[in-house]
Amino acid sequence: MPQVVIHPDVPLNVVILSHGERHLAPSYFERGWLICLKDVRIEADFRFLSAIRLPRDVRRGHVKFMLTHEDHAAFDGKRKETWALFRQRVFDQRMSDYFRFVDQVRSVNEQLHTIASTYFPRYRFQRKRVCWKFEEIPEGQNLHIDNIDGCERQGQLRVFTNLSTGLRKWSMAQHLSVYARRHYASAGLDRFVRQPFAFNNALTEAAFGYSHQSVPDPRHLVDFEPGEVWIVNSAVVAHQVRYGTLLALDLLEFPYEDYEDPSRALPAILADLEAACGRQAAV
Ligand SMILES: [Fe+2]
Repeated sequence: MPQVVIHPDVPLNVVILSHGERHLAPSYFERGWLICLKDVRIEADFRFLSAIRLPRDVRRGHVKFMLTHEDHAAFDGKRKETWALFRQRVFDQRMSDYFRFVDQVRSVNEQLHTIASTYFPRYRFQRKRVCWKFEEIPEGQNLHIDNIDGCERQGQLRVFTNLSTGLRKWSMAQHLSVYARRHYASAGLDRFVRQPFAFNNALTEAAFGYSHQSVPDPRHLVDFEPGEVWIVNSAVVAHQVRYGTLLALDLLEFPYEDYEDPSRALPAILADLEAACGRQAAV
């Protein structure tokens, strides 16, 4: 179970969901809650995976990789160049370690895809990609709201798991609409209200500053153990990594029409905001 510290000044938006409550997952997701899965833990060789070191020149260029096993090529696409990089540069042709890694990727990706379809059976996933992040975040990121490619026309479910041998430390702050109302006029957010990607970029900068800055806004603290799984609609709620190393993140795209409540979709939230803030200005 994750360790959760709820801040009294931030509305509750963290839930620990049991398998028996999985029918509630879409509602929590669409409302921007952090869903921590109680009965699920990814099985993986955490020691082996945590010991993988990227060569310095690889690390300088890239620490995030979309890794797709052959078994999943039908919906993830093939990424031969990425596998070649791991075989040649990361594992230096040590083929037993390389194949051990390939098998770990297949297994972890499969487990993440299965969780997504079990907890969100209504969502018709059109693309599933798993991003493996070999980054180290010792100092933490700033609070932010994700701007996600394609958010104008489709939702993206994000299923995370901590693959390191240590904790991954997160924070959750408030729903996008809280910050958007606060900064709508001062940041000129009306310019972007029909462009969700640009809107989230402008809002994050207005509300939290550039990524190297930090703000004192209150937030809930959530620490995940190795193998724990969490899900969040990261395009509609402010969140933060305070510490972490190896992570796998399943990115699953689906049509907004599949939302249980389509008024929760990002373009609909922005349309409501435009109407509300426009009315405020008129009054
Ligand atoms: Fe994020």
